[in-house]
Amino acid sequence: MSEQAKLEIGGKVYQLPIVVGTEDEHAVDISKLRQESGYITLDDGYSNTGSCSSAITFIDGEKGILRYRGIPIEELAEKSTFIESAYLLIYGHLPTSLELRRFSDLLTQNEMLHEDMKFHFEGFPPNAHPMAILSSMINAASCFHPRLMEGYQPGNFEVQSARLLSKVRTIAAFAYRKSHGLPIIYPKPIYKYTSNFLHMMFSEPYEDYNLKPEVVRALDLIFLLHADHEQNCSTSTVRMIASSRANLFACAAGGVCALWGPLHGGANQAVIEMLEQIHREGDDGSKFIEAAKDKKSGRKLMGFGHRVYKNYDPRAKIIKQQCDKILESLHINDPLLDIAKKLEEAALHDSYFVERKLYPNVDFYSGIIMRAIGIPIEMFTVIFAIGRMPGWIANYKEIMDEATTRIYRPRQVYVGPTERHYLPIEKRTKNA
Ligand code: ACO
Repeated sequence: MSEQAKLEIGGKVYQLPIVVGTEDEHAVDISKLRQESGYITLDDGYSNTGSCSSAITFIDGEKGILRYRGIPIEELAEKSTFIESAYLLIYGHLPTSLELRRFSDLLTQNEMLHEDMKFHFEGFPPNAHPMAILSSMINAASCFHPRLMEGYQPGNFEVQSARLLSKVRTIAAFAYRKSHGLPIIYPKPIYKYTSNFLHMMFSEPYEDYNLKPEVVRALDLIFLLHADHEQNCSTSTVRMIASSRANLFACAAGGVCALWGPLHGGANQAVIEMLEQIHREGDDGSKFIEAAKDKKSGRKLMGFGHRVYKNYDPRAKIIKQQCDKILESLHINDPLLDIAKKLEEAALHDSYFVERKLYPNVDFYSGIIMRAIGIPIEMFTVIFAIGRMPGWIANYKEIMDEATTRIYRPRQVYVGPTERHYLPIEKRTKNA
């Protein structure tokens, strides 16, 4: 008989099956607990709750391991591209050259937006945040593809997912151009994914952007490193929406909203704002570190800490190396990089951060690379969203392919007023 856990409540013992993952992770299966005992479990912030079984991404936060479909992130960062890794995440295996060409062709065929979509961009005020535009326009794009509304069908998934992955980059670049009062630049089919994005961001109608291979590689690497990260806030949001059988674009639009917050994808923007502030104030970082340790200050060392990693985030290691490389090759001396390195050094030797196992996360250095290649700060989280799209698509596919997936619907422990009665308005006092 397989391993079981025992839970005793009020003298009655409940047997709970133990589920073991392929990397020997153990979980207590409580799916029948309420039915059998009337009890639910309570797990604020879900730190101890596995919401699903998934075969996409593996993280060992204690050892600092991240693998996409079993392949270490370090190998992919060195040898793969964003689009090849996207294929790996979505379809579960590295593509053959024929499969990669087909995938790439599908992305090219779907890179344009419907011409009428241009008018939607006109409706946003000039200073609208591009994350708001991105999420609205992903949803708007779905209206131009009515077959999406038919829901998930294995026969149309390939095109729908390529459509989303390709268009999201066009939408992002258009959003940037509009918000800076610049003319929209259409994609060019001769360019690969990341080059095409840079072209749409930075070319002008009278002059093509000079695509430097090291800049293309740096941005491609940022996309690749963000491509999936198992059940984080935005991916769980995507799965939550997908569980109601909403269409792929609706799920991705929801994922963008969840990603926007400064405790999640918005942290890359918050890190640069923090470094700029430290620079402006002439602080060497020590005042900021003291404030971040003081809970009353309301400050945190942005780009530090992670729910899962209690060790150096492997993505941060790769990004830090890339940061030094790109700044050197572009001959940029960014004072923010020096401040970031000093902050990291100070935090890694400070007992507050050491005891809590707070290390730099993926957002700590990524913003410095993006600044160096000319991406404006308000676009940082958009870049993260483009990168995370394959992970969301893979999770969407996984949930849709699973015949037994039920709608996600957590319970709660109610702590509000017990039954009371409706008072007519003339009898009410304040707060009654
Ligand atoms: N600066 C200062 N203290 C911190 C930080 C930080 N960046 N992160 C965590 N702590 C402290 C907490 O206050 C807590 O202290 P306590 O034990 O005295 O109460 C302790 O470390 C444990 O932290 P939790 O709040 O339990 O961590 P949690 O897992 O809930 O949150 C999170 C993780 C949101 C990433 C947090 O570390 C944080 O806010 N970091 C800064 C924002 C950030 O960089 N976000 C990006 C995360 S990566 C990503 O989404 C791509």
